[in-house]
Amino acid sequence: MTSAVAKDTRFRLDDREAMHLASSFGTPLYVVDEGHFRNRIRAYRQAFAAAYPNSEISFASKANSTLALIAIAASEGCSIDVASEGELRAAIAAGVGPGQCHLHGNNKSEAELTVAIKLGIGHIVVDHFGEIELIQNITSALSLPCPRLVLRLAPGVDPITHAKISTGQADTKFGFNITDGSAERATSRCLELGLNLYGYHCHVGSQLLDPEAQRAGGELIAALAVKVRDELGFAAQYLNIGGGLGVKYTEEDSPMGIEEYNQLVVSAVVAALSGTGLSPKLGQEPGRSLVAESGVTLYRVGVVKTVPAKSIGKRTYVTVDGGLSDNPRPALYGSRYTVLPVGKEATEPSHTVTVSGKHCETDKLFGDIQLPESTQTGDLVQVLCTGAYNASMANNYNRYPRPASALRRLDGTFTEIQRRDTWEEMFSRESVPEGLI
Ligand SMILES: Cc1ncc(COP(=O)(O)O)c(C=O)c1O
Repeated sequence: MTSAVAKDTRFRLDDREAMHLASSFGTPLYVVDEGHFRNRIRAYRQAFAAAYPNSEISFASKANSTLALIAIAASEGCSIDVASEGELRAAIAAGVGPGQCHLHGNNKSEAELTVAIKLGIGHIVVDHFGEIELIQNITSALSLPCPRLVLRLAPGVDPITHAKISTGQADTKFGFNITDGSAERATSRCLELGLNLYGYHCHVGSQLLDPEAQRAGGELIAALAVKVRDELGFAAQYLNIGGGLGVKYTEEDSPMGIEEYNQLVVSAVVAALSGTGLSPKLGQEPGRSLVAESGVTLYRVGVVKTVPAKSIGKRTYVTVDGGLSDNPRPALYGSRYTVLPVGKEATEPSHTVTVSGKHCETDKLFGDIQLPESTQTGDLVQVLCTGAYNASMANNYNRYPRPASALRRLDGTFTEIQRRDTWEEMFSRESVPEGLI
């Protein structure tokens, strides 16, 4: 598919800012630019509304559930997509009303559903037959009205992306298959029970640089909506076509522009609904494409080491003070990133290095990176496009404290929005029973 290629809009710090931040907050440090994030949300909302006015954007908070960022998304008019009780609690802690949240999850517990229903969740995205019965039991036991229910559908399309972030194919743990009739049976069951069925949802995958799968997914769920209206008499009021628009991690990535993407996916849905009398509200729930390019991670260089390497003769490892615990994506998905030096002249001679982390793994954090030959211990580097699925995937492997996050405010000042883990927190959940030592 041909597309107008989006230009490089990734946020980056200037050298002065990077040095100031490293000395104020330490490294590794996540930094998100408020203006950039707000502009991405505005561009997405405007493009969606231009293509389909009766529309709604939810911020997929799994991409980055730092409270300040959820608050920014909500202040820009997004509802919040939460995939667990924890993300729901994060949204509430950020000041978002539960009615503005949508609860996802392929294996929601009774306790999670009960909390969400009691709080007055905006809608629940239902994933399987057992969940329909569970919601019926909970609402009748508590004499509470059934929240809006949206059935997650597996439309049976295979996106071109990493297998671990493909979700729209028929062989998936997510949702009701359209191809085997599960989607219609689930609809019938909700109607039989008198539940508050609101519409349908699909999310086919993530980091999609070719949007064909989203286009096909939207078309298929719209066609399903028409079919159930004709056969079962249920008129969907809402269709959500998920998230998944890719971003520019490296120079090789050319994601489709937001406007063109919205035109493309919306027109597929509109065409499938045309002449049917159905005019549901349309939703999308992007995460990565809203926040990834708004964030960078700042690291300080430690050891620089050149070793013999088969076929290439020698390899230089530039080791930074983070890695697998603040960015597990390279290890999980083989993800690649752009790494930029701080405080070096663009004219300096550079060479190809492997940027590695400090964990007890052979963690080639970022391979084939061009850095100045003068790169040495104590220098800073910034990694672009780390606003999504970095802070939210951070962990304590090797007992490293998770990094702090700073927000670059609209006036250019920086505020810490999440502090680094403390040693007290690190051990506060544990105890050593008597007699072990
Ligand atoms: C159901 C659902 N919605 C939305 C998203 C957000 O996707 P992305 O961050 O690629 O836009 C995901 C990501 O996994 C998801 O599983």
